[in-house]
Amino acid sequence: MKILIVQYLPAGEKSNTKKLLDTALDLLKTKKADVEVLDLVKDPPDFFTSQRIGVYYERNYGGQKVSDERLALMAKMDRMTSQLKAADLLIVASPMYNFSQPAALKAWFDSVLQKGQTWDLGPGGYTGLMKGKKALFLSSSGGVYEAGHPYEHCVSLTKVHLGFMGFEPEVIAAQGLNQFADKAPAVIAEAQEKIKALLSRWL
Ligand SMILES: Cc1cc2nc3c(=O)[nH]c(=O)nc-3n(C[C@H](O)[C@H](O)[C@H](O)COP(=O)(O)O)c2cc1C
Repeated sequence: MKILIVQYLPAGEKSNTKKLLDTALDLLKTKKADVEVLDLVKDPPDFFTSQRIGVYYERNYGGQKVSDERLALMAKMDRMTSQLKAADLLIVASPMYNFSQPAALKAWFDSVLQKGQTWDLGPGGYTGLMKGKKALFLSSSGGVYEAGHPYEHCVSLTKVHLGFMGFEPEVIAAQGLNQFADKAPAVIAEAQEKIKALLSRWL
């Protein structure tokens, strides 16, 4: 089973979210899992420029052949999409920034949510082409957001992105790490236990 880790942890060794991801990585190591890591800090995704979106529309929506020169504009987005399609299990690790996904994570989703690759639109409507695959989102935030909180667009958006591609998403988030800093170690420890339990069930 090929496991892809997509991480955006610019705080490095000080990262709260890294504590969650490290728990997952330790467990994967004991299972001798085949793990590939995409680090969005070291390898940031591209954005849609005017030229790039033109190629995307012509190729993915119009089914047109585009020149190799113009196709090259999509190279990084296509590489990230192929990498995701090759994975059997996905783990995404990122903090909440300004009530949503950090821009780099959103750009990764913009890169891989390609029509005809990870989702499609047919007579029956939208289909997620990653159907049957599991995904886990590990996240942390300074505040606490109950489901449906009007300011919460990180976990909810990530679930939508993953679900739209057909993944069955699970989320383990350590919340309130700044707002209730005295409780942070316990909140992180609880999340780490949940990660161990979930991955032991999955692998
Ligand atoms: C740029 C930035 C924006 C943030 N925005 C939010 C936010 O909107 N809501 C929140 O609860 N916490 C917010 N935080 C706090 C982080 O989500 C929290 O400290 C998280 O645990 C950081 O994860 P990390 O240590 O893995 O980077 C923000 C932190 C930074 C640096």
